[in-house]
Amino acid sequence: MSSLHSLLRSLCLLFLLLQFTNADRKQPNIILILTDDQDQKLQSLDYMPLLKKYIADQGTTFNKHYCTVSICCPSRVNLLTGRAAHNTNVTDVIPPFGGYPKFIAEGLNENNLPVWLQQAGYNTYYVGKYLNGHTLDNYNKPLAKGFTGSEFLLDPSTYQYYNASMSRNGGIPVNYPGQYSNDLVANKAYDFLDDAIAAGKPFFLGIAPIGPHSEFQFATLEASAPQYPPRHANLFNTITVPRTPNFNPSTPGGTSWISTLPPLTPEALAYGDTFYRARLRSLQSIDEMIESLTLRLNTKKLLENTYIIYTSDNGFHISQHRLPPGKNCGFEEDINIPLLIRGPGVSKGVSTQKVSSHTDIAPTIMSLALGKNGLDGHGFDGKPISLDIKEEGGSDSVNIEYWGRALPEGDFAAQLFYGNNTYKAVRIMGEGYSYYYAVWCTNERELYDMLADPYQLTNLALPIPSPNPVPSPSSTPRTPSPPS
Ligand SMILES: *[C@@H]1O[C@H](CO)[C@@H](O)[C@H](O)[C@H]1NC(C)=O
Ligand SMILES: *[C@@H]1O[C@H](CO)[C@@H](O)[C@H](O)[C@H]1NC(C)=O
Ligand SMILES: *[C@@H]1O[C@H](CO)[C@@H](O)[C@H](O)[C@H]1NC(C)=O
Repeated sequence: MSSLHSLLRSLCLLFLLLQFTNADRKQPNIILILTDDQDQKLQSLDYMPLLKKYIADQGTTFNKHYCTVSICCPSRVNLLTGRAAHNTNVTDVIPPFGGYPKFIAEGLNENNLPVWLQQAGYNTYYVGKYLNGHTLDNYNKPLAKGFTGSEFLLDPSTYQYYNASMSRNGGIPVNYPGQYSNDLVANKAYDFLDDAIAAGKPFFLGIAPIGPHSEFQFATLEASAPQYPPRHANLFNTITVPRTPNFNPSTPGGTSWISTLPPLTPEALAYGDTFYRARLRSLQSIDEMIESLTLRLNTKKLLENTYIIYTSDNGFHISQHRLPPGKNCGFEEDINIPLLIRGPGVSKGVSTQKVSSHTDIAPTIMSLALGKNGLDGHGFDGKPISLDIKEEGGSDSVNIEYWGRALPEGDFAAQLFYGNNTYKAVRIMGEGYSYYYAVWCTNERELYDMLADPYQLTNLALPIPSPNPVPSPSSTPRTPSPPS
């Protein structure tokens, strides 16, 4: 009798203990804010005081975070799958090599972060731009999977700041002429946050405003500076693109098409500065959103159990290396992108030189949600980013790649179209060394010693002796297409 009694008591204790451990392991909420084409190297983060106050000062800034392919759709698919672009085979913004239809065709709609999070017991929400080529016609053929709630910006008005069209939970798209896209997305994000909180389950909320991407008209294929709301129109009137040593340099640099660029004219430089100010202004609504989200979480006492991850799909250049506004290059401006994280256990108010890439974001989020178990069976090429600044180890290199053409944007780029922009590169860095090495489809190579030459002005690579260029798909240029 007494042994039965003590058995029951032990079972009771065990039960209590399990309950405690479960409570300890309460799955954290995760908010992922993904901006579009936001640079780190042009110092856009310096103009986001609320991002600093609520995320940087309360979390960690990852100074050496990279996209692995400097164009929206392939980069977003890389982020959503944790697999390198050469493994997702989504390598462009439009079919046949990329865009939403290619994502579907590769079976990735069933195999991505939101789907896995849902399987892990999360409610998942997403608002804003998902992938390029996600349109009024194909948004439901099929619907993007993995979302408890979703509201997507759709082409052809994705990059019209005052004419968004969005489909909510797979419904018929609604057009919002006259409403500022970044504010529209922010308001819808607050609604999803309310839904998520009311449901009482752990949640993932992806928020992808288009700022600071260029305004872009599909009808004319014209890109121009991003639009901003009247309340921010008078900000940054005297700010210009930082005049770094690689700003419109007196001798051309790089290789392939970049090495033959003429210097930018004074008009083109002034245009670049105007473009830059417009980008900073278009980021202000996103900065305000960060404050609203954080205060809402705080009011609901959820801030302490929520990770907020802030990043962009790829970087951006304006006038460096004589380039008009754009991305798609392997230069540091295009690949080194913002990453800031706050949340439980994340070191506060610090920045780190630890190396990471978008390939690591899905593994990072899955391990936050499920611990080590979150890493199994997804074919990850990346690994979780250590959120503890004191932890040693990690990788010292990032694999960078690009296929096809470069697409400069804006007035001084209207006539330009660059083929032969296919390259594979490695960015490698650590205590006492820092290099960028690239091999191009034209057989050219680049090597920069980035401790001695951080602005990538002196190519140390010797030309390849072989006279026969390696055949590559890009030697027959594809049709120009929308910037991503
Ligand atoms: C990648 O996609 C292209 C375009 O659809 C296709 O031709 C190619 O065979 C694919 N590569 C692999 C390895 O699946
Ligand atoms: C606004 O978007 C709608 C839906 O995409 C489109 O029909 C309309 O032509 C757009 N308006 C302008 C001014 O581009
Ligand atoms: C690509 O490079 C090859 C080899 O240098 C050259 O012959 C070809 O004209 C280039 N194509 C374009 C579109 O620049």
